Amino acid sequence: SSLLALSAGFANAGTLDDISESGELRACFDAGYMPFEMKAKNGQFIGFDVDLGKLMAKQMEVKYVPVNTAWDGIIPALLTGKCDIIMAGMTVNAKRNMRVNFADPYITVGQSILLNPKHEGKVLSYKDLNSEEFTIAAKLGTSGEQVIKKMLSKATYNAFETQTDAALEVVNGKADAMIYDMPFISIYAAQSKGKTTSILEPFTYEPLGWAVKQGDPDMLNFLNNFLRQIKGDGDYQRIYDKWFKS
Ligand code: ARG
Repeated sequence: SSLLALSAGFANAGTLDDISESGELRACFDAGYMPFEMKAKNGQFIGFDVDLGKLMAKQMEVKYVPVNTAWDGIIPALLTGKCDIIMAGMTVNAKRNMRVNFADPYITVGQSILLNPKHEGKVLSYKDLNSEEFTIAAKLGTSGEQVIKKMLSKATYNAFETQTDAALEVVNGKADAMIYDMPFISIYAAQSKGKTTSILEPFTYEPLGWAVKQGDPDMLNFLNNFLRQIKGDGDYQRIYDKWFKS
């Protein structure tokens, strides 16, 4: 019976138990994705996901531990236990959902276009970019990349490790456009006025969700109740306004 109890104990030990025992909420993200996660000049990580993670850790009465991870390795990092949760503006999609569980979406975004100014007034929608004459940049492994492959397959696609490298291609004219999540494009376009222009109206529907390992209903239950609470009590709105209204 002790063996049975032991194995039952193992089966029940989920992410919440790990967090309680270690006293840490380790959150994976990939810094540079404005305004969700950025590295400040002093080396600290800041942003929408970071503040939500800190609030979550506070309610759990544990320490928030940021785990900055390259985007194309972020799901493996979760699955191999390098973090307890992915809080990284990850689009909920079918392919990812076959490997991880997502909590209820905490925000909805969509893809937008960062455009080299020479195309202003000529490229009016993503559809206009689906032509051999265009080179389009995106970040490796993102939903922007998927959109280019599916909807803009006639254009030349160039992949980049970071979103900043992809955006710089548009600035220096090596790429005609970059496809990425609307909040990032909106901030980047404002910061690079004159050197870029943008078509912000999202042309895809992308709920973003926090991802955890499969088979852990306790963790999902915690996350969905946390989300409902902060959406109801004003904490979510306060943090949202801090990062999205400036
Ligand atoms: N929402 C997009 C996706 O899921 C981009 C997310 C990028 N996130 C980041 N932390 N770099 O593919």
